[in-house]
Amino acid sequence: MQGEAVPPRVPTPRRYLMCPPRYFAVDYAINPWMDPSKPVSADVAVAQWTELRDTYRRFGHTVEEIDPQPGLPDMVFAANSGTVVDGRVLGSRFRAPQRAAEAEHFRRWFLEHGYRDLTMPEKINEAEGDFAWTGRLLLAGTGFRTDPAAHAEAQEVLGVPVVSLQLIDPRYYHLDTALFVLAEATDTATAQVVYYPDAFSPGSQRVLRRMFPDAVLATAADAECFGLNGVSDGRNVVLPVEATDLGARLVERGYEPVYVDISELRKAGGGPKCCTLEIRK
Ligand code: ARG
Repeated sequence: MQGEAVPPRVPTPRRYLMCPPRYFAVDYAINPWMDPSKPVSADVAVAQWTELRDTYRRFGHTVEEIDPQPGLPDMVFAANSGTVVDGRVLGSRFRAPQRAAEAEHFRRWFLEHGYRDLTMPEKINEAEGDFAWTGRLLLAGTGFRTDPAAHAEAQEVLGVPVVSLQLIDPRYYHLDTALFVLAEATDTATAQVVYYPDAFSPGSQRVLRRMFPDAVLATAADAECFGLNGVSDGRNVVLPVEATDLGARLVERGYEPVYVDISELRKAGGGPKCCTLEIRK
């Protein structure tokens, strides 16, 4: 890219589904970020979440809200509850029993909001936690949560090609903690992604290099602050406030970083993307 002009980045309006963290807590540990002995505040989580929601609205995106449920402290992480492509909804099936009931609340939300083409998966499937849409295909993570058989199931249900990627670092247990799409494209080679190579097996790193030779490569420091849990609308990229190094590199590529404080939500192992389920019509 040396010497080449940075192409103009064009944002596209998005529709997101989010769940306010009114009952947020860390009562159990199902990933290495969660420590039930450390204090957490649902009020602080709600304030941080509200700022994230309002940031999306400032950019002109639509944010729908689902009612949080007592006893489901992780329900704020809406990304885990559905994958929507072309108006087709593939629901979720959680690995941890503590989160299992969330799937049904989201299933009902979709039905009540007119999404008739809805399938609940048979295999363990943590939805956009492990699935990332590039504009042409779904990148799909496995290794900690989503069953690899759920990748084949997603391909059949959604009718889009699915590329499996193997996650190997327990801190980056969902694909959306290790990779996100900066700009979608119907042509895979021109879609732009950012990822943390060491979160992936050697074979999956080779797959990523082949598919996205021009990807932004994140550092260990970018990953540790949940910088790979960003949300891009094609131009504006919402990142945790600590991810300024990554943000600076995205500026060189023509993106506009927008920083939010997600420190309370990170205590449960979540960030901006985890809170954001994208509804693609
Ligand atoms: N505590 C939640 C869990 O471990 C966090 C989920 C984060 N969501 C995500 N899309 N990465 O399941």
